[in-house]
Amino acid sequence: MSLIEFNNVSFTYPNGFSAVEDIDFHIEKGENIAIVGQNGAGKTTMVKMMNGLLKPTSGKVVIDGMDTCDFTTARLSRKTGYVFQNPDDQIFHNTVRQEIEFGPSVLGYDAQRVKELTEYTAKLVGLSDELEENPYNLPLSIRKFVTIASVIAMDTEIIVLDEPTAGQDIRGIRILENMIEELKEKGKTIITITHDMEFVVNNFDKVFVMAHKNLLKVTEPKEVFSDSALLEESMLKRPYISEIVWQFGLPEHIILRKELAEYIVKIARSS
Ligand SMILES: Nc1ncnc2c1ncn2[C@@H]1O[C@H](COP(=O)(O)OP(=O)(O)OP(=O)(O)O)[C@@H](O)[C@H]1O
Ligand SMILES: [Mg+2]
Repeated sequence: MSLIEFNNVSFTYPNGFSAVEDIDFHIEKGENIAIVGQNGAGKTTMVKMMNGLLKPTSGKVVIDGMDTCDFTTARLSRKTGYVFQNPDDQIFHNTVRQEIEFGPSVLGYDAQRVKELTEYTAKLVGLSDELEENPYNLPLSIRKFVTIASVIAMDTEIIVLDEPTAGQDIRGIRILENMIEELKEKGKTIITITHDMEFVVNNFDKVFVMAHKNLLKVTEPKEVFSDSALLEESMLKRPYISEIVWQFGLPEHIILRKELAEYIVKIARSS
């Protein structure tokens, strides 16, 4: 049994709009996955089915053996933490501390554990000095970290991040990279939607490419960024290094700065 199973899953919104059609995949415990694809491809709709915020209108979503149609969102949220695309859909407390404390308190942890989890996650996302602030006094990019912390504080096995990189500067990206690294070490299963292809190649081993309500491909970043037809169909931009490699006709398996540097050194030595 896989940790996350989507079996022939489709989802149609109540207004009749079909957003996800016949998607089929399995995710194993400890896998870290980037989901990419153009606006409106169905990414958010798909991940909202991982914690029961949306239930499939046909097919089956099974999370750690639980068919999501048979369990409440509250129950499923103990397994899958979902960070909303828009932080303002998620924030409803007056201070950052209260916002982060809410999840672990609802899970019934004692006061000491709630305090520890709150302070640990605030530190992880660079918010230790903002705990007593009103989230709405902070910029949107930082409010996103408030929501990320509030989900990580619930210590769920699966963490779904919906566009954490949107609007982040270098500091924000570094915080996200360190945080993902630490969560990986803890064995968490992390699923991240992003439009930042550098972030994908630098942090994930597996990519789900979505387009037109479907999952087009599940593969390694190397495969995605060397497949021109797939990139065209899913409207994806090559990351910087892949673009150089492609423009100069270098071997297409090179996607990281380090790999390009090694290749150049090898060529220089052999010439
Ligand atoms: N509540 C809703 N009712 C009807 N249609 C919706 C609703 N929410 C989303 N949609 C539509 O479903 C489609 C898929 O939306 P979704 O938010 O899943 O895409 P996405 O891949 O996350 O896009 P983005 O990159 O812009 O966040 C879009 O065409 C969107 O307009
Ligand atoms: Mg979305």
